[in-house]
Amino acid sequence: MASTQGAAQVLVASNRGPVSYGVREDGSLAARRGGGGLVSGLSAIGPEAGALWVCSALSDGDREAVRRGVGEDGVRMLAVPADVHADAYNGIANSVLWFVHHMLYQTPLEPVFDAEFRRQWASYETYNRAFAEALAEEAAEGAAVLVQDYHLCLVPGMLREKRPDLRIGHFSHTPWAPAEYFRMLPDDIRSQLVRGMLGADRLGFLTWRWARAFMECAQAAGPGVRRFGAFGAEAEAEAEAGPRGLEHAAGGQVSARRTVVDVHGLGADPEFLRARSHEADVEERMAALRAEIGAGRRTIVRVDRTELSKNIVRGLLAYRQLLDDHPDWRERVVHVAFAYPSRQDLAVYRDYTAEVRRLAEEINSRYGTPGWTPVVLHVKDDFARSLAAYRLADVALVNPIRDGMNLVAKEVPVVSDKGCALVLSREAGAYEELGEDALAVNPYDIGDTADALHRALSLPADERAERTKRLAAAAVALPPGRWFLDQLDGLRAG
Ligand code: F6P
Repeated sequence: MASTQGAAQVLVASNRGPVSYGVREDGSLAARRGGGGLVSGLSAIGPEAGALWVCSALSDGDREAVRRGVGEDGVRMLAVPADVHADAYNGIANSVLWFVHHMLYQTPLEPVFDAEFRRQWASYETYNRAFAEALAEEAAEGAAVLVQDYHLCLVPGMLREKRPDLRIGHFSHTPWAPAEYFRMLPDDIRSQLVRGMLGADRLGFLTWRWARAFMECAQAAGPGVRRFGAFGAEAEAEAEAGPRGLEHAAGGQVSARRTVVDVHGLGADPEFLRARSHEADVEERMAALRAEIGAGRRTIVRVDRTELSKNIVRGLLAYRQLLDDHPDWRERVVHVAFAYPSRQDLAVYRDYTAEVRRLAEEINSRYGTPGWTPVVLHVKDDFARSLAAYRLADVALVNPIRDGMNLVAKEVPVVSDKGCALVLSREAGAYEELGEDALAVNPYDIGDTADALHRALSLPADERAERTKRLAAAAVALPPGRWFLDQLDGLRAG
């Protein structure tokens, strides 16, 4: 056990924290607070809960804030050296683990696990160790630690070695790769990842599909990992089915340790969304969007970060196919596509963003008329405008190749003014909860997607409204506060 212990009773660890810093021209620091499920989830336990969020410095501004000792209460930012962070985040987390879990490789040429990969992997270990050390330092005796995502897979194992008294959870916000795909990783790396994760008392996933995939990978990665508890569709749907997960020998212990595996399907936050989407800035943006769209036209809306996994290019191809197959939609529909920048340090993301722009322009120049712009593309992140588009949408297009959950699919029905048909990829985690009232698509099939768009645009208004009501009810089944508390309760219950 560590000789010095901290005071935090609940700790959250994630690469990206709730606040970031920029350096102003006069040298002062400007703090910017972020949003998202984890931020609102954590706020559910209240300020008196003694919570600490451990995150990484991501930018020069963040590192400067750490150097100057500037920070927010309840947040500890780790000044991992920029080169180590770049290797761990861009090199391993985003270019290897994200690719593996979303199955994004063009396998004839990639991945290549060479000396450069090994060098970056050493940085990933260093970066995970920095988190484990900070958490070990800050956690009070028996505290609960909730580690987030693929950036920090090694942390549970490393932390358990330092602080066996802690209750350690890990939550994956991404899909988990099928065992057949996961095994492309070098054997020692696979087993390190699995052992790192199994250092946790509890592992959380967004759906049973991803939870089962993890268990298969864990069982395939080494001997001595066995399932316990009840599995199968019926048991998984049953909240009271009792603990289940993996039994495994760990850290030289003779007796088996247990890691509970559970599912928490993060939902939308209805109070926040409904209130925020009726603020003045959203109304202003609705007016601006209406002017861009043109009177009396239907809208197909998509809002994404420009992730390779979001499938924005095939979405545009499907829209083009719709205009070819059903020329009667020309001039009567607009595809409103918001593709916000993401991970622009990576060339493959920059290329993908360029392809999105190129294809949108090509569609506009081929089909556009003086009074009609078929694709309205915006690439500058603007949350108020996203909400405005949610409210206006006749059809929402959510067609990822693979996605842990996809909160856009859950947010649109909650916010929609007059009902919105949801065209939803069967490969999104949200499909498990929303599939019945959505129009399902195979995200690779352009014809299928174009056809679903046509059917969605043609849905009678009353059916659309009915479906939207049911979608919204399913979407808010587990809002962020409850999602977080359930995990915390589960972890503390042992
Ligand atoms: O959406 C899945 C997710 O893993 C989130 O949990 C996480 O915040 C995000 O992706 C990471 O994105 P970024 O690289 O921009 O921090």
